[in-house]
Amino acid sequence: MTVVAVVGAGNWGRNLVRNFHNLPSSSLKWVVDLDEGRLAKMRELFPGIRTTTAVDEMLADPEVDAVVVSASARAHHPLGMKVLRAGKHAYVEKPLALTALHAEELVSEADDRNLVLMVGHLLLFHPGVLKLKQLVESGELGDLYYLYSQRVNLGVIRQDENSLWSFAPHDLSVMLYLLDQKPVSVTARGAAYLQDGVEDVAFMNVRFSGGCMGQVQVSWLDPHKLRKFTVVGSKKMVVFDDMEAQEKIRIFDKGARVPTEYRSFGDYIGLRFGDILIPRLDASEPLRLECQHFLDCVTRGERPRSDGRGGLEVVRLLEAATRSLAADGAPIQIQEG
Ligand SMILES: NC(=O)c1ccc[n+]([C@@H]2O[C@H](COP(=O)([O-])OP(=O)(O)OC[C@H]3O[C@@H](n4cnc5c(N)ncnc54)[C@H](O)[C@@H]3O)[C@@H](O)[C@H]2O)c1
Repeated sequence: MTVVAVVGAGNWGRNLVRNFHNLPSSSLKWVVDLDEGRLAKMRELFPGIRTTTAVDEMLADPEVDAVVVSASARAHHPLGMKVLRAGKHAYVEKPLALTALHAEELVSEADDRNLVLMVGHLLLFHPGVLKLKQLVESGELGDLYYLYSQRVNLGVIRQDENSLWSFAPHDLSVMLYLLDQKPVSVTARGAAYLQDGVEDVAFMNVRFSGGCMGQVQVSWLDPHKLRKFTVVGSKKMVVFDDMEAQEKIRIFDKGARVPTEYRSFGDYIGLRFGDILIPRLDASEPLRLECQHFLDCVTRGERPRSDGRGGLEVVRLLEAATRSLAADGAPIQIQEG
């Protein structure tokens, strides 16, 4: 049984509290938040838990094995460092940190102390993304040409981070997970309409070492609610639509083939319009799977699927995108870490 504490019981943190309270292999002991009203709500919902506004009080408890940090993005690095320095395993919500330097500090602190550091890249636990991974790895899609994601909505407007830092960690973590290629360069353009200097909408493009291109579109100022990935390969194409209740994955047996030899323009590019397959997916809640994975990694001393290094890679891309945004979309090279 792993004894768990959650820091940050906001809109998202309370889902983590619920899962760690319900999972049989965890014992949720503490919830920490600066807001006493939110703590009172947690005590009402989960009688028996201890609450505090002082993170140090919880960290001083030797029974606590692992701490989940779901506070505001700028608090992730200082809180994560405190947790690791107290000798506890850490699960930090995305983004892992706001600079690559801070993300590196978290990764090396966890390594030095032999502690688990997991990042809340929720989609890596989504059965739809696992299906995409399987399709890519099996070669069913052929060579990957390009992929793009759309994560737009009229939704939660943040003040302390722009739409790119708020949403794109999900899309970037999936691209890095799916592709066996390193990101080489990034461009990003965006615009801030509601608050000075906080981009509501952004379009980010990543070039990968194997020639694949990834495009991320994010916005909290959009009439559509889209959470969609499209992957285009040389043999097949796939759409993962997370807004669909049941049929989240559609595999299109469609493609275009350029023959090595051709006689006329008509022979040149052959288009194929085949069947559409909708595979059945596991209906488990991705967050529950993610929380269980963290507990398993803590118990077995294993590296999480969404480990600190993955979190660092995402932060590196976001940092490059921020520089590109400031330079009106100029390409920024990614330095290998
Ligand atoms: N993985 C996902 O799919 C997903 C979804 C939504 C949000 N998130 C992430 O989760 C985090 C929290 O998001 P949210 O929507 O719950 O935000 P929120 O603003 O609703 O809640 C944040 C909570 O953290 C508390 N807090 C802030 N600093 C603290 C500190 N130093 N010590 C203790 N408590 C502190 C605040 O009082 C607040 O209650 C963000 O990083 C966000 O990016 C992840």
